[in-house]
Amino acid sequence: MLRTHTAGELRIEHEGEEVALCGWVSSRRDHKGTVFVDLRDRYGLTQLVFRRGEAGDALVVERGSVLPLETCIRVTGVVSPRPEGLRNPRLPTGDIEVLVRELEVLGPARTPPLDIEDEIEAADEMRMRYRYLDLRRRPMARILAKRHLVSRIIRAHLEARDFLEVETPLLTRSTPEGARDYLVPSRERKGRFYALPQSPQIFKQILMVAGVDRYYQLARCFRDEDLRADRQPEFTQLDLEMSFVSEEDVMELVEGLLAELLREVRGVEVARPFPRLSYREAMLRYGSDKPDLRYDLPLRDVTEGLSSSGFRVFSAAVESGGRIRGIRLEGGAALSRREIEGLEETARENGGRGLVWLKVAAGGEVSGPAAKFLTGGEIPFLLREFEAEAGDLLLLAADREQVAAEALGAVRAAAARVRSLIPAETWRPLWVVDFPLVEWNEEEGRFDPRHHPFTAPRPEDLDLLESDPAAVRARAYDLVLNGVELGGGSIRIHRPDLQERVFRGIGIPEAEARDKFGFLLDALSYGAPPHGGIAVGLDRLVMLLAGVGSIREVIPFPKTTTAACPLSGAPAEVSPRQLEELGIRLAGEE
Ligand code: AMO
Repeated sequence: MLRTHTAGELRIEHEGEEVALCGWVSSRRDHKGTVFVDLRDRYGLTQLVFRRGEAGDALVVERGSVLPLETCIRVTGVVSPRPEGLRNPRLPTGDIEVLVRELEVLGPARTPPLDIEDEIEAADEMRMRYRYLDLRRRPMARILAKRHLVSRIIRAHLEARDFLEVETPLLTRSTPEGARDYLVPSRERKGRFYALPQSPQIFKQILMVAGVDRYYQLARCFRDEDLRADRQPEFTQLDLEMSFVSEEDVMELVEGLLAELLREVRGVEVARPFPRLSYREAMLRYGSDKPDLRYDLPLRDVTEGLSSSGFRVFSAAVESGGRIRGIRLEGGAALSRREIEGLEETARENGGRGLVWLKVAAGGEVSGPAAKFLTGGEIPFLLREFEAEAGDLLLLAADREQVAAEALGAVRAAAARVRSLIPAETWRPLWVVDFPLVEWNEEEGRFDPRHHPFTAPRPEDLDLLESDPAAVRARAYDLVLNGVELGGGSIRIHRPDLQERVFRGIGIPEAEARDKFGFLLDALSYGAPPHGGIAVGLDRLVMLLAGVGSIREVIPFPKTTTAACPLSGAPAEVSPRQLEELGIRLAGEE
């Protein structure tokens, strides 16, 4: 046996015991001929003492005094109470130390390129390249454990409710989530490709036709899209699907699961049912389809009162059918020039042309670059409309409705951060419902499904499918937590005739629909049950539960923003032989 205990295990009750411990040299201090080493493993830290004349012999002390950090070692020794005054109440093993008798180096270590400390400054790229060192850090080890706990709770919760975990293929056909596919060339059938799944959507629907009734999977998904803090090319979904259900059944199940996760992982209770907001309301009031309800800061539409303004920014927007929306930031007049510029930048990054800002002083005096143009009664109108008081800041955007809403929605979130309006340890889940079934794709000049083309339309809107597609609402729901889109799902179309009609309605030609999704249409024609489901982003869920700012922190081996893996060097070149076998010639080659 290499070890008798872990480095997190020993207590005062073990006094006098002979133990063997294994782990890594986390720190080393020399103190008048005595060497102290903190031995680290996944379970904790134990202080080792190399002292002449006592437990260890001179040679051991000498070797201990030169141990490089992060060396993997094994020691044997005796558990001894730390002297009074030198105990460390913050450490579970802080009452004892181990007087070392023997030392064995199991794995020598080069000088680590990262500091293995709780807080480090290293660039993300370095942390990914040396992920095995990064993961030795306690916060990362805790996240790995938390992710495991989350998966375990999910599995137990669903298994107790008759869900069956079923695997679906990774080598498959292109799926309909709307991102670019990762392709895998076929050797057997040159010129053909598998696509890695963007989600198990079609297979889980087919499983419903197969009578599985309740399916779930912690499913790996692949999407070749631009990466952000909450997006990775390869990520994990808690994917589930249920037969003979309505929206309410799926939402109730997910609420129960999320409530249990928050209770078990964070020790908080959330009120149920979660609030529901229609997509329209969410956009109008918060300028976002994933509003953060931890603070209020609502948007207000002030178009009507400003339509005859002499200020071109306002009047031009109104003339061209746009809207003017704004928010009142209480006490925001105290913001610095720089902070306001930051908010203007946020508006621009989110599609807006800019931001009109007005600082309100005592007596209704208003200042800001636009103030001098607002001489036609706009100021009293705005002050009234926003119930503004001295010290407030008004932020306005005038643009096409969607643009004004989204730009201000982003400004709302940024302003809440700047003013520290986001309360800690607050959890505000909600559902956003009544999404439009389709949205206009400006670039391609056509309607695209907002979720995926298998989403059922609301029956009462069905007749608008051909005449006014944009007005059709979907039986879809998004789960939002603290401003993060955590999940999305819907009741599906289960009748092949309706599915074909929707394909037509969203401009997917029949031949294309047959070619791409014929296998689903076929399946639907053999007695498909009504069904619906959802997928919750597991990485985002763990990110929120662990209180970190990026899903990279909760993915053991994440990719960079250019979708590379610095640890393995993927993507990498392959040999000419491999390419030849696949029948692939690179562009630019003979
Ligand atoms: P959707 O595309 O909305 O739905 O995805 C569901 C959830 O998956 C997470 N997610 C991501 N997480 C990290 N990186 C990404 N690139 C990424 N893309 C998505 C989000 C998102 O809410 N098949 C449907 C679900 C269904 O209808 O049942 C689907 O995949 O948290």
